[in-house]
Amino acid sequence: MASALGRDVSIPLSKNTHLIRWVEKMAALTTPDSIHWVDGSPEEYAALCDRLVAAGTFIQLNQNLWPGCYYARSDSGDVARVEDRTFICSLSKDAAGPTNNWVNPFEMRRTLKQIFRGAMKGRTMYVLPFSMGPVGSPMSQIGVQLTDSPYVVVNMRIMARIGQAVFAEIDKDVKRVVPCMHSVGMPLAPGQKDVPWPCSKEKYIVHFPEAREIWSYGSGYGGNALLGKKCFALRIASNIARDEGWMAEHMLIVGLENPQGEKTYVAAAFPSSCGKTNLAMMIPPAGFDGWKVWTVGDDIAWIKPDVQGRLRAINPEAGFFGVAPGTSAKTNPNAMAALSRNTIFTNTALTPEGGVWWEGMTDEPPAECLDWQGNRWTPEIARQTGAKAAHPNARFTAPASQCPTIDPAWEDPEGVLIKAIVFGGRRATTMPLVYQAFNWTAGVYTGATMGSETTAAAAGQVGRVRRDPMAMLPFCGYHIGDYFRHWIRMQRNLSETPRVFHVNWFRKGPNGEFLWPGFAQNIRVLRWIVERVHGRALALESPIGWMPSYDSIEWSGMNFPREKFDQLQAFDPGAWRAEVIDQQELFIDIHDHLPPEMVYERELLICRL
Ligand code: GTP
Ligand code: SPV
Ligand code: MN
Repeated sequence: MASALGRDVSIPLSKNTHLIRWVEKMAALTTPDSIHWVDGSPEEYAALCDRLVAAGTFIQLNQNLWPGCYYARSDSGDVARVEDRTFICSLSKDAAGPTNNWVNPFEMRRTLKQIFRGAMKGRTMYVLPFSMGPVGSPMSQIGVQLTDSPYVVVNMRIMARIGQAVFAEIDKDVKRVVPCMHSVGMPLAPGQKDVPWPCSKEKYIVHFPEAREIWSYGSGYGGNALLGKKCFALRIASNIARDEGWMAEHMLIVGLENPQGEKTYVAAAFPSSCGKTNLAMMIPPAGFDGWKVWTVGDDIAWIKPDVQGRLRAINPEAGFFGVAPGTSAKTNPNAMAALSRNTIFTNTALTPEGGVWWEGMTDEPPAECLDWQGNRWTPEIARQTGAKAAHPNARFTAPASQCPTIDPAWEDPEGVLIKAIVFGGRRATTMPLVYQAFNWTAGVYTGATMGSETTAAAAGQVGRVRRDPMAMLPFCGYHIGDYFRHWIRMQRNLSETPRVFHVNWFRKGPNGEFLWPGFAQNIRVLRWIVERVHGRALALESPIGWMPSYDSIEWSGMNFPREKFDQLQAFDPGAWRAEVIDQQELFIDIHDHLPPEMVYERELLICRL
């Protein structure tokens, strides 16, 4: 078959007979019109983007303003992860635990076989090999995604290492390959006209943890469809990590360099849309001269003890799939630089000049634009109807290498040394700006009981406080109680235990205003964390952990009154008693898998309150 891409793309690019046979089997099931083995070349990328423009999925942005950039609008019913349609199909229901949707794997396989039958009719099936982590790194993992979405292929080319080099890895036949099936679930009858964003109302995001297999149906958006990300690098990888003694976490990784040139790497777990990307790319403000923040990753960390028993982390991704709204030259100039070229925008607004815009990008909104659904939008319309120009979960897909603060070691196959782990939720009340857990087990308890207000990153109600243990509630691929036990056990193999902290950038005052300016000013908190790690900062003991005094925070360049800091750090025993009762709800659900350490930590906390 000759193709628009100028070569016979149905010829396998791998010699691996298992892979070739699986591709044939899946093609027989889904009956695509053609098969395209993805080589990952720039020419192929350009041809796929052209194809997406011709299909109406992509609009090429004004190349003078946004070189190499494209814009896509999704279907209005396919805008975020679908947690209630996400399944962990372990052999036993007990292994998935109460925080995951479980369906008997045999039953689920029957269902999937039915819905995937003929699902790719009228489309091309892409054979997309990807490496999570640098190709060849001992910490990397390999997958092959079969997908009928060219949008997914071009996004994955930014988010992961893909193509020929990965086929070469597969042909060495030393690493297990995770099969990832994906269809947007909209086969085309002969002559049927396609839509710009094909998808299905019915969605299934399915994981088979024992078989290390992923099947995703019906969605083309983000974590539902870019299967290397949440499905593989978190849900499947958390299973692999538990079995092999490492950790797959929803964490950013940053290197914090002080004026003396000492660099301390920190990993931080914040729930979806709670500030990881912003923290990972922070530029220290005035008053913090000589400090530098280096970006290693903004969403996922794979953390493993090295031979000396110290924790090392890699970022398994190669790009940022970042929240657009709120991102600006003021809040996150590094993200703005990273997304200034070679970036794919999804569900932002489109300006008349052929540029993109979103709420918070500039102080002045454009006089008019097309919103994320293609309707005319003006500031006046927004005032009258409250309509947003960009969807709250509008995203940019940008190469990590384009971030000005990307760490020189970001692709180090051995990873970087992690000295501190930070947990942080979005909490209007109760949680202080920062405290340090008394020790590792208390830190695990802090992470395990973390609460956060829900955001637009997942379909459903926004702003409701829920328990989101280690920011992994939607991403832990097995029983959450066993996951806590794995965390506790991890420390036993370590020669050096990272310090554990909890932060909250989102505490509000009586009038609903944020008490803390956040963003770049968060460096003041990070500095205290670094100083604690190196044993150079004092802390005050409180019932929940160690806290900084006003004087142990560096305030130079900022006028922040002592009273306001006290308000931010305030420990309210009543609110904490309610918090502990709330924490119990999750623990009751998982009582039969709850490590005893969690029960003791809770008792100790109650005694201190
Ligand atoms: P995912 O990609 O969904 O995992 O999200 P993330 O954790 O990377 O979140 P991100 O950094 O994209 O931030 C999400 C939202 O929080 C954006 O609208 C930011 O503007 C806002 N935000 C980030 N940091 C701060 C902060 O320090 N203070 C306040 N008030 N808002 C913040
Ligand atoms: C998240 O929701 O935590 C994300 C975005 O990082 S997505 O890839 O869509 O899951
Ligand atoms: Mn995330």
